[in-house]
Amino acid sequence: MIKKNKRWEVGSEFHCLDYSFNKKDVLPWDKYNYYYFGSGRDSLRAIIRSIKCRNKDFTLWLPEYFCQEVVFDLLKEEIKIKFYPLDPENMKSDISSINIKKDDAIMLINLFGIKFFDEYDNIPSDVFIIEDHTHDPFSFYSYNSKAHYCFASLRKTLPIPCGIVWSQNMIKEIKNYKITKIRYKAISDKLIAMRLKSLYLKGFDLSKDIYRTIEIKAERNMGRGNISMAPAWVESIVNSFPILKWREKRKNNYIKFLGYLDDKIKKNILLPKEIDRTYPFMIIMLLKTKRERDNIRKILIKNNIFPAILWKSSKHKLFSNKKIEDRHNAFNDRMLAIHCDMRYGYKDMRKIADILKKSL
Ligand SMILES: Cc1ncc(COP(=O)(O)O)c(C=O)c1O
Repeated sequence: MIKKNKRWEVGSEFHCLDYSFNKKDVLPWDKYNYYYFGSGRDSLRAIIRSIKCRNKDFTLWLPEYFCQEVVFDLLKEEIKIKFYPLDPENMKSDISSINIKKDDAIMLINLFGIKFFDEYDNIPSDVFIIEDHTHDPFSFYSYNSKAHYCFASLRKTLPIPCGIVWSQNMIKEIKNYKITKIRYKAISDKLIAMRLKSLYLKGFDLSKDIYRTIEIKAERNMGRGNISMAPAWVESIVNSFPILKWREKRKNNYIKFLGYLDDKIKKNILLPKEIDRTYPFMIIMLLKTKRERDNIRKILIKNNIFPAILWKSSKHKLFSNKKIEDRHNAFNDRMLAIHCDMRYGYKDMRKIADILKKSL
């Protein structure tokens, strides 16, 4: 195979990263019992089943701003789902206004690695608390959680597709599920696509389509079928990662990137109250209009920066209240997210900032 020059791009799925190993980091779940699952959705579904064993009739309260694909998947569990207000624009949730009952469950989230877990004072003590740590699995909050159950999809922040559930006291109630064929294949195919993407980025003569086709098919299979555990080798891969070093790199990229921007552009960025407790893995931009967002997106893509945009709320018709759907869409239409994780360094951040300065 002919090797050409390295290719530069930002965003989209992880590739297999080169790294060296010093020693295994202490992870939030190390002091508890934990299970690796096939995906974040498998993890959450397993938690739901464990709560259902205690109380068949409970309601699961989810933040109204949450991935609709995931909520749609949870409908398979045939439980009552209700939503509590969460406004992504100011990262504020409102638990006090909902009619949450004894033995119900509520899921809290550190949305985009920006929102803090600040709802505890308003949650009655006889309610099950589930924390979703997907957007920063190694935050201050995940190491210090008091929730009944914690889970995360690790593939947003680490180059491994799997989920994890851990708990201080409820893990006994999580069943040991089988590894389904469909999820085994999805995880293996995702890893193959990551390997091919590494070769592509290194300049080997292969087309993007080769790994994108595998990736897209695997993505569909991440959400299909029964709950699945992860194969045992997934844990060995996770334990080989320099997780906290990578996380620190992400934080430094984030801070450096903000430093490269002037106030005019910074006004379009959603910022955490402080950057010590959770570190965002993406820079979340909120533009004035959809048109402005689409223009900037086009310019970024032309420059090989592939920003993430989020779902259209109407696809799954999950809300009886159309106003919630409209609020979601009003936010999602104006947002885009640029990755700043450990794949990148300061030079990359500078390049992205320069392109943004020219396009805004
Ligand atoms: C916050 C959050 N939680 C859970 C999930 C579900 O994870 P998975 O796609 O691994 O099932 C996602 C995925 O998009 C997510 O963003």
